[in-house]
Amino acid sequence: AKRYAVIGHPVAHSLSPRIHAAFGKQLGIALEYSAIDATDEQFDAALAAFAAEGGLGANVTLPHKARAAAACTTLTERARRAGAVNTLVRSTTGWEGDNTDGAGLVRDLTERHGLDLRARRTLLIGAGGAARGVAPALLDAGIGELFIVNRTPERTDALADALGQPGRVHPRYFDDLVALGTFDLVVNATSAARDAALPSLPMGLCGKRTAAVDLSYGEVAIPFLAWARAAGAHDRVDGLGMLVEQAAESFARWHGVRPETDAVYASLHERHA
Ligand code: ATR
Repeated sequence: AKRYAVIGHPVAHSLSPRIHAAFGKQLGIALEYSAIDATDEQFDAALAAFAAEGGLGANVTLPHKARAAAACTTLTERARRAGAVNTLVRSTTGWEGDNTDGAGLVRDLTERHGLDLRARRTLLIGAGGAARGVAPALLDAGIGELFIVNRTPERTDALADALGQPGRVHPRYFDDLVALGTFDLVVNATSAARDAALPSLPMGLCGKRTAAVDLSYGEVAIPFLAWARAAGAHDRVDGLGMLVEQAAESFARWHGVRPETDAVYASLHERHA
């Protein structure tokens, strides 16, 4: 069987092996998809070992998305814009780095959840690998102005600069949030809840038509989505659908065919909502 893997730390609870196995079964493609646990220091060696064993493709998850970009010989346009890689495709010269997170998020929000993103005034919370992965795709999907806040302001500025649309993308401080009014789309791309430390967010960020989205799922998404409910957000979406859609997008890169995602999403949703 052809070999694929997800590399992260921690990675034991990753749903990616299950998702790719289900896609392979659905399409009759024999594949082996494993989880490789590698710390920062181990990442380069782990990837080299995987390549030496014939690995054809890998997903990259926390905390390696930026590091993975540096390990690639070529990057797709969307990975370059994101400065982050979640999908590695074996090429004759090494690894090509791609990023399917943004496309996965947009597909989940528009197709599965039926949200029209066009002209939505958007707040992105976070400026790490996850935020960088989704910001370009959100802009391309036609959102309105994009405001970005992050605990470390230097990273807010770096992401805003990298997006290259100064008239449309605005770095801000958490302290500015109260004055910014309501947003039509609020995206939590921090890993804060994993440390049980969601930054305090004013209720006024949400209006009647606001969609609140957490890029994580399960217990990690609960604090933000509970805040969104209390703040009156119209739609509350966790990152499970994005996870399945980015996987489908990666699968399409590797196998040349796009799997159907509804059945896999439904079975995971039952267990992880
Ligand atoms: P990821 O790939 O999940 O984005 P990351 O690149 O380490 O991982 O980024 C984590 C994000 O969560 C960052 O925006 C981080 O803020 P900093 O850039 O200031 O580190 C944010 N984050 C993590 N813990 C946080 C906390 N306790 N409060 C606020 N923001 C936090």
